[in-house]
Amino acid sequence: MAVQSFKVPNTIVFGQNALDHLSEIKGKKAIIVTGGSSMKRFGFIEKAQAILKKGGIESVVFDGVEPNPSVETVEKGAQTMRDFNPDWIIALGGGSAIDAAKVMWCFYEYPELKFEDIVPVCSMPELRKKAKFAAIPSTSGTASEITAFSVITDTQKHIKYPIVSPYIVPDVAIIDPELPAKMPPHITANTGMDVMAHAVEAYVSKAANSYADPLALEAIDLVFKNIKKAYANGNDMEARNNMHNASAMAGMAFSNVSLGIVHSMAHKIGGEFGVTHGLANAILLPAIIEYNKKSTDKYAKIEKYLGIDSLEDAIRKLNKELEIPATFKEVTEVSITKDLFEQALGRMSENALNDPCTFTNPGQPTAQDIAEIYKVSYYGK
Ligand SMILES: NC(=O)c1ccc[n+]([C@@H]2O[C@H](COP(=O)([O-])OP(=O)(O)OC[C@H]3O[C@@H](n4cnc5c(N)ncnc54)[C@H](O)[C@@H]3O)[C@@H](O)[C@H]2O)c1
Ligand SMILES: [Zn+2]
Repeated sequence: MAVQSFKVPNTIVFGQNALDHLSEIKGKKAIIVTGGSSMKRFGFIEKAQAILKKGGIESVVFDGVEPNPSVETVEKGAQTMRDFNPDWIIALGGGSAIDAAKVMWCFYEYPELKFEDIVPVCSMPELRKKAKFAAIPSTSGTASEITAFSVITDTQKHIKYPIVSPYIVPDVAIIDPELPAKMPPHITANTGMDVMAHAVEAYVSKAANSYADPLALEAIDLVFKNIKKAYANGNDMEARNNMHNASAMAGMAFSNVSLGIVHSMAHKIGGEFGVTHGLANAILLPAIIEYNKKSTDKYAKIEKYLGIDSLEDAIRKLNKELEIPATFKEVTEVSITKDLFEQALGRMSENALNDPCTFTNPGQPTAQDIAEIYKVSYYGK
């Protein structure tokens, strides 16, 4: 039996006003890395800086991290860090801001490294020579505050690179539902269904283990019970809190046991057409559960735990209630015409087969199987 390990942040602080934990961290200088404008607009940056000040920590802000952060942004942030010399990096925002801050941290500590040097899995050198890392997520979705992953885009080559390293698991994760409570309904739905996909895929993963399973199962249950409430009423703090915890729990599971072809296929159709990640997952999930069921009894265990007959039907119903389209053909945020879809189909299927997430999917899908699933998810049954 192989020896396995399970890695999560040292400290996970959760619940309303968890942000106050920033006054407990020990240090002198912090840089806050954030996205476009929402965190500033809602006063969270100012609040974080005031709490840090109370604890005797001077802080500066690096803002403007774009969705799907680029190598250029990461290099710019690393330079700002080298100029300021912080002993804490505090990422405050969505997955994009947290992911960017993780790689800025690496280039802050190792200015001589190039982006290509850290692309191979686990090639990043050991961090924490200059700073520690706290993450405060504003979406209940990617769980970057928990995971060993960061996704950075090479904008010239149009390629998204998943960076994997145990060193980028944050030291502290602050799971405060006040931040995601500001998300508009469609972002709540999309990011929340990303949590569902993380939890389901981690639970059925070929690398699943007894440490990750209970976290994944609890996350699935929490999403089923809370996502509609958070979508219908953003100020329902109990639902927001449960969704935020579900996201982090799903993150603990998938960071350690990986994912499956929902993510492989979402990455590729996202790359081709720019469909939002969580939305792509939500559309793909039912068809992939149906396809994977022959290879594992783990879906039956989820159904038994939830007391339902069919997980795929329950997710179809949930998608409908969240106003998520049933097929890619009906997506309105980007237009995927039949011709463009058919042109990309072979390429997307091959690329999805070679995505790292495919290795831990139950069963042995072929490129043909993946193409069939794309077709069902585009045209409907
Ligand atoms: N590190 C990981 O483990 C991991 C896993 C999966 C995906 N990702 C990556 O994470 C990124 C997506 O992250 P995300 O889904 O959190 O979205 P995001 O960070 O890209 O944010 C999406 C949008 O929502 C806005 N927003 C964020 N929080 C808000 C709030 N509380 N109120 C109002 N608006 C808010 C942002 O400004 C942005 O416009 C992608 O680049 C994806 O590839 C990372
Ligand atoms: Zn995801």
